[in-house]
Amino acid sequence: MSAAKVVSVTPADLAFPDWMHTVQSQVEAALARCLPPGEALPGRLHQAMRYAGLNGGKRVRPLLAFAAGELTAATPQRLEIVACAIELIHSYSLVHDDLPSMDNDVLRRGRPTCHVEFDEATALLVGDSLQSLAFELLAREDFGDPRRQLEMLRLLARASGSLGMAGGQAIDLEAVGRSLEQPELELMHALKTGALIRAAALLGALCGSALSASESTSLDRFAKRAGLLFQVVDDILDCTANTATLGKTAGKDAAAEKPTYVSLMGLERAREFAADLRSQALAALTVFGGRGQRLLELTDFITERKF
Ligand code: IPE
Ligand code: IPE
Ligand code: MG
Ligand code: MG
Ligand code: MG
Repeated sequence: MSAAKVVSVTPADLAFPDWMHTVQSQVEAALARCLPPGEALPGRLHQAMRYAGLNGGKRVRPLLAFAAGELTAATPQRLEIVACAIELIHSYSLVHDDLPSMDNDVLRRGRPTCHVEFDEATALLVGDSLQSLAFELLAREDFGDPRRQLEMLRLLARASGSLGMAGGQAIDLEAVGRSLEQPELELMHALKTGALIRAAALLGALCGSALSASESTSLDRFAKRAGLLFQVVDDILDCTANTATLGKTAGKDAAAEKPTYVSLMGLERAREFAADLRSQALAALTVFGGRGQRLLELTDFITERKF
């Protein structure tokens, strides 16, 4: 990735949709630079990594990192690295999530899933390789402030592993066909999805000046609520949106007997719960005043998204 190409995309006067598209384009270009070219050996693996990592996705985690970076006047170059690292982990998690041994999905981001387009063994290796690339990127020598960098590496590792995303996925698989109580379901969602969303916000803020202890607590509270909100909305969309809009097969959760907020409390209460989580997330931002504006707008985007 070329640091020279980094530009700041955070001017406060940009309307939210323009800001969002600018960050999405910047992250897309940065990912395209950091993923190995499809011609580099082993070509098939690299082509599959680019297939899974590029041209798709809302890039919500990078958007969260950039929005949280506004709280601490974060360096755009660092934000770009952090955004790519998180998005690589997220893309890896989707490739594995779709495998026949997990959710067995054939459609992702409006295209055949990685194992359908390539093959299962390649999809496994794509996940492995995207994860490794994420940590290689975050460990870059020119990142600056090695102590802060180590803290960020630990944070991302913890959020991705058995006490984070991968652990949540394990609970998800064990829960098939069972009806979970709300605390168990909340733990599953907080880990499988919330952990990376939280990490995105915390890592974005860590790209700038230090937050006070109470600001850190508020950001953490925001990030946890936003993470849970994201998966509750995903559960709702699975049963209310159609496949063409979602870019992934609708109705899969009920068909696969996955416990979700909709199966736990019904659609209407799940919607109310999402609205409560949105309010709680926004309340946690009040301490930041105007610096929290992008996070506020992003929370509304997460709540109101259609896919
Ligand atoms: C889908 O995540 C998987 C979940 C964690 C719910 P996204 O909805 O962020 O997927 P993309 O990246 O936009 O495709
Ligand atoms: C996926 O949750 C969470 C991770 C990929 C870690 P889902 O299985 O609900 O995500 P979708 O609906 O397939 O995108
Ligand atoms: Mg899943
Ligand atoms: Mg899935
Ligand atoms: Mg889902």
